[in-house]
Amino acid sequence: MSKDTLTITDNRTGKTYEVPIENGCIRTNALRQIKVSEEDFGLMGYDPAFLNTANCKSAITFIDGDKGILEYRGYPIEQLAEKSSFIEVAYLLLNGELPTPKQLEEFNYLVTHHTYVHENIKTFMDGYRYDAHPMSMLSSTVAALSGFYPDAKNTKDERSRRIQMTRLIAKMPTIAAFSYRHSMGLPYVYPDNDLSYVGNFLAMIRKIGTTTYKVHPTLEKALDVLFILHADHEQNCSTTSVRTVGSSEVDPYSAVAAGIGALYGPLHGGANEAVLRMLREIGHVSKVPDFIKAVKTGEGEKKLMGFGHRVYKSYDPRAKVIKRVADEVFEVTGKNPLLEIAVELEKIALQDEYFVKRKLYPNVDFYSGLIYEAMGFPVEMFPVLFAIPRTVGWVTQWEEMVKDSEQKIARPRQIYTGSKRRDYVAMKDRK
Ligand code: CMC
Repeated sequence: MSKDTLTITDNRTGKTYEVPIENGCIRTNALRQIKVSEEDFGLMGYDPAFLNTANCKSAITFIDGDKGILEYRGYPIEQLAEKSSFIEVAYLLLNGELPTPKQLEEFNYLVTHHTYVHENIKTFMDGYRYDAHPMSMLSSTVAALSGFYPDAKNTKDERSRRIQMTRLIAKMPTIAAFSYRHSMGLPYVYPDNDLSYVGNFLAMIRKIGTTTYKVHPTLEKALDVLFILHADHEQNCSTTSVRTVGSSEVDPYSAVAAGIGALYGPLHGGANEAVLRMLREIGHVSKVPDFIKAVKTGEGEKKLMGFGHRVYKSYDPRAKVIKRVADEVFEVTGKNPLLEIAVELEKIALQDEYFVKRKLYPNVDFYSGLIYEAMGFPVEMFPVLFAIPRTVGWVTQWEEMVKDSEQKIARPRQIYTGSKRRDYVAMKDRK
């Protein structure tokens, strides 16, 4: 009869151990009983970059990387992108169920009425140089919110938690827009409660010298879909950072600021910015074969940015939706001249043995940058546009971690490879 256990024989001692298997996992801590002697610390798992380690149980987002499936709370991303709105998806992620009309109205009201930031935040942001990267402004300003809301320290109190989570979701577009306006030398635009979440953000970005600025409905819808696609992605680098920092029981502003820091990197949310820079560097369709060759030979340590994923080993389902959105946006804005290069890159890479063998497909960032650029955003704003919707995922995952009785402060082990113990050498005796 089959049993949900793993039998391990330690060939060093000849001893056999039986370890339970639960949800397709063994608890790595169960290995600690495997010792060669009484003083032995016990066996550990070594897994740099968490390639095969589950860090939590989560009921929020499901991904099957081989099949290219992404679901929020069980709902396929394609259906949500087509039928839902970002604010509804935010409610779904936060609460586990789709809202009733009344619940959606209340949630929308709550988010809309927390969009303003303390006036001192403006002074704080004015301290940046004119050319500061908006992502750097975003992360430090979000960290600064911790100083404005001392009650956020009550992470065990559900009511306080929910207020901070709402504040973060609501204020993120305001801070993001302020960071853009600062870098452009433009006056800050205050939130407008009559607009949608995305419409308000676009208005705070674009409004100049008019009170009647109208957001283009196609662009508003396109950004709303992009926000849905970016809202959560289970245990990625930034979410893991939020959970790790949050596990010390610090307030969520500090934890989310750490997530923004992680997202800033070119291997994560900075990839859409890197894709655009790469396309510009290639410059012309005729140069695509040479670029692909350089990537394959590792020349100049080039990577095909916007390709590959730790989890997806087939087409990223978000990239498929984004391609459709791109067509709708380009109808309004005209084609991005870099699109031709991107399409050719994708075509060649999808046929090339190097990429096929490694299962490297376009990810969410491959086309999103082209859309953002067509909508008039500078490349520096691309990771910021990722951070706004991902805030929903971060705070949802943070709260799940706070409520999870199995979680403790995150504290991995190491394999020490340094010097053996030795005595201090006085300065005069050092050679
Ligand atoms: N271009 C060329 N080769 C690549 C690429 C790429 N974009 N991605 C992976 N490879 C190669 C890699 O060199 C390795 O080759 P080999 O087996 O010969 O050593 C093989 O494919 C396996 O890759 P890996 O580095 O072990 O994969 P990983 O899971 O550690 O990295 C990744 C995942 C996303 C960091 C990586 O694919 C990458 O750097 N992609 C480019 C950056 C990017 O587009 N990031 C956005 C990710 S999606 C949005 C998000 O999550 O933020």
